[in-house]
Amino acid sequence: MDFSPATLSFYGVGAAAVATSVATLRKRLELSRAKHGSLSGHARIARRLARLLPFYEYGEERFFRSDDAPADIAARRRAGFDRLSQLYQTRFPETIKRTAEAAETLSDFQFTAAYRVPFQYSRFVRAHLPSASFVQSSSGVMLTDLDGNRNFDLAGSYGVNLFGHDFYKETIERGAERVRALGPVLGSYHPVIVENAQALAAISGLDEVSFHMSGTEAVMQAVRLARYHTGRSHVVCFCGAYHGWWGDVQPGVGNPVPAHDTYTLNDMSESALRVLRTRRNIACVLVNPLQALHPNAAAPSDSALIDSGRSAHFDKTRYAEWLKTLRTVCTERNIVLIFDEVFVGFRLAKGGAQEYFGVKADLVTYGKTLGGGLPIGAVCGRSDLMKRYRDDRPADICLARGTFNSHPYVMAAMNEFLRRLKSPEIDALYRDLERIWDERAKAFNARLAKENLPVRVVNLSSIWTVCYTRPSRYNWMLQYYLRAEGLTLSWIGTGRLIFSLNYTEADFAAVVDRFVAAAKTMLQDGWWWRDPAATNKSIRRAVLKEIIAHRLLAPRQSKKR
Ligand SMILES: Cc1ncc(COP(=O)(O)O)c(C=O)c1O
Repeated sequence: MDFSPATLSFYGVGAAAVATSVATLRKRLELSRAKHGSLSGHARIARRLARLLPFYEYGEERFFRSDDAPADIAARRRAGFDRLSQLYQTRFPETIKRTAEAAETLSDFQFTAAYRVPFQYSRFVRAHLPSASFVQSSSGVMLTDLDGNRNFDLAGSYGVNLFGHDFYKETIERGAERVRALGPVLGSYHPVIVENAQALAAISGLDEVSFHMSGTEAVMQAVRLARYHTGRSHVVCFCGAYHGWWGDVQPGVGNPVPAHDTYTLNDMSESALRVLRTRRNIACVLVNPLQALHPNAAAPSDSALIDSGRSAHFDKTRYAEWLKTLRTVCTERNIVLIFDEVFVGFRLAKGGAQEYFGVKADLVTYGKTLGGGLPIGAVCGRSDLMKRYRDDRPADICLARGTFNSHPYVMAAMNEFLRRLKSPEIDALYRDLERIWDERAKAFNARLAKENLPVRVVNLSSIWTVCYTRPSRYNWMLQYYLRAEGLTLSWIGTGRLIFSLNYTEADFAAVVDRFVAAAKTMLQDGWWWRDPAATNKSIRRAVLKEIIAHRLLAPRQSKKR
């Protein structure tokens, strides 16, 4: 045996290499285990599959019978569909006409119109139940469209509308009044900003504040600060969580390039904690507390409603425990814990998710309602994390700019918002907030059960989602019946209803009546007919078969062209 120094060092290097690769392999395995089993947990595969998905659509006949319903059911569906289509043409003519005209130049209109229902049905729906995206006025909890129809607002302006439209009209008007003499001067500040920063520091329990132009930008800045101060590269997001449309926090479908420095992990799971405990490259963990309603699932859009598999369940105690554990692990590992409260901040409690779940973050982002009706994003944080330069290395800075940040009109509307937050009227809206909305959801479900409707709601305070209890391919039709009953939803459809807190008992009762009326008509029109053998799994399998068949056909078709 040769034990020369050269040989020994050769074997030593070899052994070290094996040990390192075993350690690396173990870490990779841990990372794989920490990913959610669904496609949204596997961003790379999801993006690849999305590119493979072929377009196909149902002809008129199949449109009404994609679940192989008998002819009499298809006829009932068709009659219901025609009636709705007629009603839309007579009730919303001007709103529909203006929306169609605008879609020629507004790409956003084209996108949202196309993605209201599963793509196989989309073109036919658009032709007969066209979008009506314009409104002319708002008052109380109602929106008035261009044809003068007054509808209950369940869209909630993407969550901005927390206290009712009239509240925001006033914050904007009064705010504008206060900064009128200054006008839109940028670069220097109106003094109102100081009061805003102090109020936000008090609300968040953190030291410093920076203002940005949107929630997306606030998240960008929070992540950038975390990377700057930790010197680490990676961001942890939880599967399904939305944090705006910046590439690094949108690793899956929708972002044309991969987010290399993002780990999308399984929410509320021990395997995710293991990754946080063992990796040294993690700068921050981003939490969107809205996910408490549907951990690991993305915003439940009706365009993905191919079966009745949408599920939601909110367990406050369990989610709070999870956040507490996450807090402990982040502290142990010097990982920055960021609560992205752009949506839920102020909605769950005055002190936001931190107060509601009883857990403190290192950085918190706010947006939406905070601007008093105008565009906003804000980061609150510990002073050591908010600092953008180093005393000992003057060129090592962390830049964050934005022409319109701290715009005087936005700051003034925000100031009105923050001041009125302390008023007795707003205080009254927060009193028993959780109990009120939980009881409303419970009463709503009791009514739906009594009427034998295959629909239930699940809520996180005033944020609701509609779930379906009977396997069906047509749940997405409900949004059109709801519109006919005077209920306005966002383009996500029944997946997200957002109530403003100024909904009175009478307003709410009217919404329940209309909702029930819509669902009853849909039931009578045959859309919820069910083959007794059908399950959500069998529906998904059937759709998959269609996709594969069209995929196999696709190259031949393109060759023919
Ligand atoms: C949790 C969360 N973060 C960030 C954003 C992005 O905010 P914005 O749309 O203002 O850019 C949103 C928007 O819905 C959000 O819900």
